[in-house]
Formats: sequence, structure tokens, C-alpha cells
Amino acid sequence: MTDERFAGARRAADAIGEATRGFRPDVLVVLGSGLGAVLDEMEIVATMPFGALPGFAASSVAGHAGRFEFGHIGDTAVMAMMGRVHLYEGHPVDRVVLPVRAARLLGCRAMIVTNAAGGIAPRLRVGQTMMITDHVNLMGANPLTGPNMDEFGVRFPPMADAYSARLLAIAREIAGAQGTDLAEGVYAGVPGPNYETRAEIRYLRSIGADAVGMSTVPEVIAASHAGMEVAGFSLVANVAGEMSDSHESVLASVEEGAPVLAALVAGILARL
Ligand code: HPA
Repeated sequence: MTDERFAGARRAADAIGEATRGFRPDVLVVLGSGLGAVLDEMEIVATMPFGALPGFAASSVAGHAGRFEFGHIGDTAVMAMMGRVHLYEGHPVDRVVLPVRAARLLGCRAMIVTNAAGGIAPRLRVGQTMMITDHVNLMGANPLTGPNMDEFGVRFPPMADAYSARLLAIAREIAGAQGTDLAEGVYAGVPGPNYETRAEIRYLRSIGADAVGMSTVPEVIAASHAGMEVAGFSLVANVAGEMSDSHESVLASVEEGAPVLAALVAGILARL
């Protein structure tokens, strides 16, 4: 069934095709706050502000640049998002995942998603990267709600292997070669925008979450539904619940660990 959401994804893909003169990305990369350094490794052939994508929107949070960059890392054709839109900004979930669906229609086979998160597991250090092995969707939203978009995938898609074992293995190998102390764990996606209470953190720990953040889960669900291989990485920006203060301090911690994560993502991209 072709619904309005599929037509919207088609329009978005067509607009990207026009703006890039037919660039065919292999991989979508979503770069969270402060993670733009991945693009230092990329030969950029086209740029498109979020506002130029039909049905999308300018991201309003400080530290989110809000544009697409298209280019190559090694032999891999990459569609990169600098920033993203979040549910907590008031965007409907279909808008949050619109770039994922457009990327799929353009031919992307895989998605690498990054974010900043609060560390729950005691083993996680601030500034360290945690590779996401699984997630818990606590966001109160799901991009697959509504009539199934058969063009992308099935009504009841399995999610047990959403994070690709192949990409996990590649990432471990590259982290080893780069001498990176890569953690692994479960990401809990929450709606935000407030940080968690102490009771919420105890709850999250008890359900098996190692890190908590306000993004990523909708994109992963949409990508997995559409048959894309997914890898996800959380940069631990703070110990959950021990926010010394502001969004600025989160950005500062991210800045420290970002080059390591950027090198890892670039290394993976070159291998895909
Ligand atoms: N909680 C939720 N989201 C976050 C956090 C946190 O502690 N840090 C960065 N994003």
C-alpha cells in the first residue's frame, strides 16, 4: 500500500537525487552532537541543508549543524547527516526517520548511527565510545506505527538482530587495530528532553540498559525494517544522573572522545 508517508520519502529521495546530480549513497551515517570530525575523512561532492529537504526541518539544538553531506570515504559512497531531528523538539516520528527512508530509496544498504549518551554501566568512562549491541525502546513512539509501508518491509519485523553481527565484528577489528578501548552495551532510548531522575536511572539499570539517550532508536527501527544493516555508537558524555550541569558540559566531554569515535566510524566506512 502506498500511503502519504511513502510518497513523502519518495519526494525526499528525489530532492536529494536532484541536489546531488544523482549521487547514489551506499551508507547513511548519522552524526550526533560534536561528531562532525568523521567528515574530515570524506571527499565531499555535495551539501544540502536540512531545510532544503521536503518534509524535513532545521534542527534547533545548539551543536547540531543540520545538513547533509555527500561524498566518499575510501570506495564507499556516503550520505552523512550532520545533526538530526529529535522527538523532543516536537517532530513527529515519521519526520525523524525521513532521511533514513530517503537514504534507503536512494540505495543505502547500511546505516551507522552515532549519539551522545549518559553512561549507566559503571564500566563506562566519560568520553569512551560504547558500541550498541541492542536497544530498549522507551521513547513512546515507533516509526512503524500506522499502515505498514510494504515497500520497505514487513508488518511485524524481527528486531532481535537489528545491530548487524557483521558490522559489530568489523568495528571490533578496526577498534583493535586503532588501539581503541571500545565498550559494548545496551542503549535505552527515552523521549527526554529532561535528564533522568535517580529512580529512573535505577530502573534503567535494572532492565539491562548500559547507556541512555534521546535519539537513535527510531532511526534504527526504520532502517532495520527497511532491510538495512545497522551499527550504532554512543559516545558517553556523562554519567547518567550526574550531570554536573548543562548541555555545554555534555558537548565538552563529547569533544574529547569525538576524534576516537570519528576515526572508528571512518575506518568502518572505508571497509563497507
Ligand atoms: N541522559 C539522556 N540523554 C543523554 C544523556 C543522559 O544522561 N547524556 C547525553 N544524552
